[in-house]
Amino acid sequence: MTEPIILDDVCVMLGDRLALDSVSLHLDAHRIAVIGSNGSGKSTFARVLGGLVSPTTGTVSVHGVDPVRQSAALRRLVGFVFSNPDAQIIMPTVAEDAAFSLRSEKLPRAESAERVRVALEEFGLTELADRAAYDLSGGQKQLLALCGAVIRRPQLMIADEPTAYLDARNARLIADHLLAPTDRRLVLVTHDLELAQRCDVAVLFEDGRMTGVGDPADLVSRYEASLAC
Ligand SMILES: Nc1ncnc2c1ncn2[C@@H]1O[C@H](COP(=O)(O)OP(=O)(O)OP(=O)(O)O)[C@@H](O)[C@H]1O
Ligand SMILES: [Mg+2]
Repeated sequence: MTEPIILDDVCVMLGDRLALDSVSLHLDAHRIAVIGSNGSGKSTFARVLGGLVSPTTGTVSVHGVDPVRQSAALRRLVGFVFSNPDAQIIMPTVAEDAAFSLRSEKLPRAESAERVRVALEEFGLTELADRAAYDLSGGQKQLLALCGAVIRRPQLMIADEPTAYLDARNARLIADHLLAPTDRRLVLVTHDLELAQRCDVAVLFEDGRMTGVGDPADLVSRYEASLAC
């Protein structure tokens, strides 16, 4: 069983803003939704888990790894997907871009090619393998970005509003891929409250503070009630 995600009294100052305020959490769940209003600290939380932001004070353990002191180990275990896939697509063609994600694994050429083939198939991108990545539609680009993250077989997928710019069909497709039963853990930051309720647990942020963790339906109700105030 994968080790949990643990935060102990984590504060993050960004400029003069306390983006995370004394956050303590112990997360064992497989699929974790992160919800809350704009500016509440969700992305900062996700970035702390992914080692992109260091806590100003407090400690973090992600599957037994300290993101600050063990950054190389963390990079091996985490995959990212963001709202804008353009930021994640680097190589000219779809197949080259998927293969580029594997460069750090230093696999034999045949094994790398096979991993790319299987991953493109999984994401329905086989037919597009030789297409220019920048000519893809937004939905296809997000599938390629997710393919590039998954192909490395991360233990933890961190997805920050991965469906924000997608139409309903592509949003559903990306969500289904992210939520499909796998061994990897998912931390999913989202404003889509139906999507949040497909997760096993939800974490609610308000104004930099973690104000609830538990059943997604309960947390969504609580969040919606707070919005009505
Ligand atoms: N680089 C930065 N410098 C200063 N303040 C920042 C920086 N990045 C974020 N913040 C502030 O930190 C707070 C938390 O931001 P964060 O991006 O984590 O919110 P969020 O919950 O992801 O919001 P959204 O739903 O809009 O994406 C906000 O007040 C934001 O303005
Ligand atoms: Mg955000």
